[in-house]
Order: sequence, then C-alpha cells, then structure tokens
Amino acid sequence: MRSTVFSTTEPTSSGASGALRTSSEAIRLQLRSWPEVEAYLERCKGVIVPLGSTEQHGPTGAIGTDALTAEAVALEVGRRSGVLVTPAQAFGMAEHHLGFAGTVSLQPSTLLAVLHDIVLSLASHGFERIYVINGHGGNIATSRAAFAQSYGTAASRGLPVAGRLRCRLANWFTAGPVMQEARNLYGDREGHHATPSEISLTLHLEPSLGAKQRPLPEPAPAGPIHGPADFRRRHPDGRMGSDPFLAQPQHGELFLDLAATALVDDLGRFLADEDAPD
Ligand code: NI
Repeated sequence: MRSTVFSTTEPTSSGASGALRTSSEAIRLQLRSWPEVEAYLERCKGVIVPLGSTEQHGPTGAIGTDALTAEAVALEVGRRSGVLVTPAQAFGMAEHHLGFAGTVSLQPSTLLAVLHDIVLSLASHGFERIYVINGHGGNIATSRAAFAQSYGTAASRGLPVAGRLRCRLANWFTAGPVMQEARNLYGDREGHHATPSEISLTLHLEPSLGAKQRPLPEPAPAGPIHGPADFRRRHPDGRMGSDPFLAQPQHGELFLDLAATALVDDLGRFLADEDAPD
C-alpha cells in the first residue's frame, strides 16, 4: 500500500494502483451504519461528494439534469474504485437561471456555507480526501472558495486531519475524453448550456425523458452571464448555443463510461497524493 489514505484490505483490481478495486455496487453513505463507516476509515480516507444543480435546461431538458448526471457519474466512479459516495447535494448556485420556472438556487454564500459544513463534517470523522464530482459550471468558483475556507476552519478548530485535508473539484463535463467526444458527435451544437452531451446522459439514466425531445429553433449564442432577467433576455428559451435534440441515450451511456474512466484515474492520483490541477 503506498499511502495510508488509500490502503485497503479488500481485493484489488490493479497491483500498480494498489487499491482501486472493482465492485458490483457503489458504497453509498446513505446505506451504511456508523460502525461500517468507522471500519471503512480504517482502510480509506477518501470520499466522493456528488454536487449538482436544480435549474432550467432549455424547453426540453430536465430541471434535475446537473444533479442526475453528477450523481450517476459519482456512483459509477464509486462502484469502480470502492470509494464511499455521499448523497448528492442537488441544489447549487443557479442564480442566473431564476428567470425560468422550476429553478431552485443557492446564493454563492449559501452554497459556500453548505460545502464548508459538508467538508468539515467529513473531516471531523477523519476523512482526508474530499473528491467533489460536479455537474454544473456555476458551482465552480464557489466550490473553490468553500475549499479554501474549509482548510482555514479545519486548522482553527484544531482538527487532527487539518494538515492532511485536501479537497478536489472534478467537473465530469470538462474531462478531456468527454469534451472530445462531445465535439466529435455534436461539433458547435454542443453549445454551453442544456448541451446534448448532458441531455444524452439524462436520457440514458431516465428513458422517460425521451418523450420531451423535439426539434428546436436556432439557439441564442453563448454570451456573458449576469442576472436572471438579463439571462432570459439573451437566452429566451434557456439554451446557450446548444441543440439538445441531437442527444441520444446511447451517447449518454458512452459519456458515463468516458467520464467515469477519466475520473477514476484522477481520483486514484488524488488519493495517492499526486499533484494534478483541479
Ligand atoms: Ni447542466
């Protein structure tokens, strides 16, 4: 075992990585008892936190797209790696989408506080590597700020793990192979919001969503993002340069595999203390 963070007594699938293993089910925190979590911490100090958003995704996309996709990728990464997965944080920072019915947003300061408290709770039990799998671009800046604040609080509270605590943000939709495949399949029609790649993944996860699919007019192009009224004026149907009618469930299955493969690799390096940009 090459690190205490990543040691395991379970069967391993790779001698080189030393700990990543393949299991049939993800280890879901929701379904575990506290003694089981204590036992898990004896062999692994890593945990995966899915982070989504509950916001409009154009006239045909599901409001829960970013939460559904983040949770699905997290569970697949958890299943392949054996790393514990928490419940999804399904509400994110979506202030600019509030001009559309159904969007539920946390203000940046609220999301910062929520993520900070999640990290501090986990750190107080001895988790040292918090791997946040994110499905929404609007969460990125606030997540980074929350990590910075968490490090400070862990130190000021004198948590035993303070010096070893690390958080990493992994945006499944910007993983290299995902972006490359989206470009191959959709070219410029991938766009920037309500993208066919994320909609494909939701169609794979929830086949009933296929009933919403229909051809849409030319989308408004991507532009600067200000407040909700300005966003709706620039993007009247909620899309930014995307054509979600190109989405296919079989594409979604492929994106899930590409994202999970890339993130399992990244998670392994994170748990092994190898530096990588986050
Ligand atoms: Ni989205």
